[in-house]
Amino acid sequence: MAKAPAQTPSLEEYRKFALTHEGDVERGAKLFVEETRLACSKCHSVDGRATKAGPDLFAAGDAFGRRDLIDAILKPSATIAPGYGTVIVETKSGDTVQGVLKQATATGLQLMDAEGKLLSIAKADIKEQRGSALSLMPEGLQTGLSLQEFTDLTEYLTTLRQPESAQASHHGMPKVIPQLVKPVSARPFISEELKLPRAKVQTGLTSFRQVPAMSNVFLVLHQQGVIWLLEKTATGEIKTLFSDLSSEVFYERGPNGLLDVAFHPKFRQNRKYYLKYQVFEEGKVATIVVEKTFALDFKRDSGNPPRRVMTIVSVAEDHSGGCLQFGPDGFLYIVMGDTGPHHDPNGHAQNLQLLLGKLLRIDIDRTEGVLGYAIPKDNPFVGMPEARPEIWAYGFRNPWRFSFDRITGDLWLADVGQDRQEEVAIVRRGENHGWNVYEGFEPFSNQYRREGRSFTQPIFSYKRKYGISVTGGYVYRGDKQSSFYGVYVCGDYMSKRLFGLTQENGKLKAVRQIGTLPQGLVSIGADETGNLYAVGFEGMIYQLDFGGTHFDEIKKE
Ligand code: HEC
Repeated sequence: MAKAPAQTPSLEEYRKFALTHEGDVERGAKLFVEETRLACSKCHSVDGRATKAGPDLFAAGDAFGRRDLIDAILKPSATIAPGYGTVIVETKSGDTVQGVLKQATATGLQLMDAEGKLLSIAKADIKEQRGSALSLMPEGLQTGLSLQEFTDLTEYLTTLRQPESAQASHHGMPKVIPQLVKPVSARPFISEELKLPRAKVQTGLTSFRQVPAMSNVFLVLHQQGVIWLLEKTATGEIKTLFSDLSSEVFYERGPNGLLDVAFHPKFRQNRKYYLKYQVFEEGKVATIVVEKTFALDFKRDSGNPPRRVMTIVSVAEDHSGGCLQFGPDGFLYIVMGDTGPHHDPNGHAQNLQLLLGKLLRIDIDRTEGVLGYAIPKDNPFVGMPEARPEIWAYGFRNPWRFSFDRITGDLWLADVGQDRQEEVAIVRRGENHGWNVYEGFEPFSNQYRREGRSFTQPIFSYKRKYGISVTGGYVYRGDKQSSFYGVYVCGDYMSKRLFGLTQENGKLKAVRQIGTLPQGLVSIGADETGNLYAVGFEGMIYQLDFGGTHFDEIKKE
């Protein structure tokens, strides 16, 4: 009689076993590098050098809980690590190649394939390039592992922790960020999640802004190009479609699409507002800023043709930065990411001839030559032949949201880190915020370090233990009696933790974990009275309630 084939456990059995059993770290470490069976190490380094196709896992145990690590192996395509999606390229000679993007320049691309081979493709040879919904990491890697072996591998991953850096503690970053005894509560502000009606794939919200001088009226932006007008009433809310740009907005997985809206300082008179989003033009992805107008009834877009203010062509499509906002000086500030790929291999952020990896400042009320705007006379690089005059500050990777403190005028900005550190900074005229020479407080690369340049350090930086993608917020200026008055509130998209911090002369004074959000924290909004709202990527808006808790009542470790 034939022997019954050995049963391969189901995904659920692997998951359940690994959640409820302890594994052997040493055996797990051996499995990780074993070439013939799993070959995890073919695609993942664990020394922080990020030399392979997959993300470096040196801090996997800090960044992910046990359940997430298990799912990362069992269902690689369920969530794709930002910047590590699979790119598929069809060449004119009829070949199809795929891999993770490692380098992109004006003349070509480099992909790393599943075998760890670096493939170079000349731009001229590319017929089509697209992203894939599938991870380069194969499914079914667990097949052939016993339940105990799978658990050993999981156990090993949980032990991969980021070494506490001596440098960061020198800069006043606490090893442990204390939690409040009673967290700030995030109360649902709307009765149901905002979802796209007929979308095949539900993606996310990106921004929530009060319409000026209309209390209780807000615009909510969806990354695929839909804008809702939300009127909050005594009994609930009225939601209307304000504008639908989905046929125009270029959207792919990741932090792109329709990103933000800003209102002209004289909005009540001229009804002008500004959007930042991505489009696909002439075979390239570009980030654009357009000027549009509200209809006379202030309930929808006027339908008048928009005016294109600015076009910034991306290099590798990623990292286009979050927001645009008017400053207290009446100028429009726009932030751009380095546009990737990861590590900024071309040094965009340090290159003053490019608008990538920069905070820009423009005068929207005048135009100059061919530009859809004018350059404010006091911009720091005006008149310098080697620099673009739009630049206000530079050295950013993927700055995801900035805001102005309405009392002090300070510009607070959060920049999403590469492999190790997230950072929050106050940004002033002409400053260099370091990327990719520095990541947070720590040196990253000397490739684009130039003689004589100085760097501004962040106020606050945190590591994988607390999150992997910072979302900038606001200095709370609501209730003057609140212990949170003057506290900068931000958080992390992935870990959903909310942080509150204070500073003095550019140095961190206090930082707390002040709460968590039920959904991915994609943005924070403020209304004119100073209330703060957290935007959940999955569709919910929350109002942050600072009553009944105190910034200085922290849990003892
Ligand atoms: C063929 C290359 C390849 C192999 C082999 C591979 N991975 Fe991956 N892995 C990737 C890529 C690419 C990603 C990023 C895309 C994604 O999130 O799925 C990834 C993501 C991950 C992540 C999530 C990391 C993050 O930052 O989100 C974990 C954990 C992981 N892999 C563990 C493993 C383990 C354990 C093995 C061995 C069983 C393994 N991988 C084998 C390519 C690979």
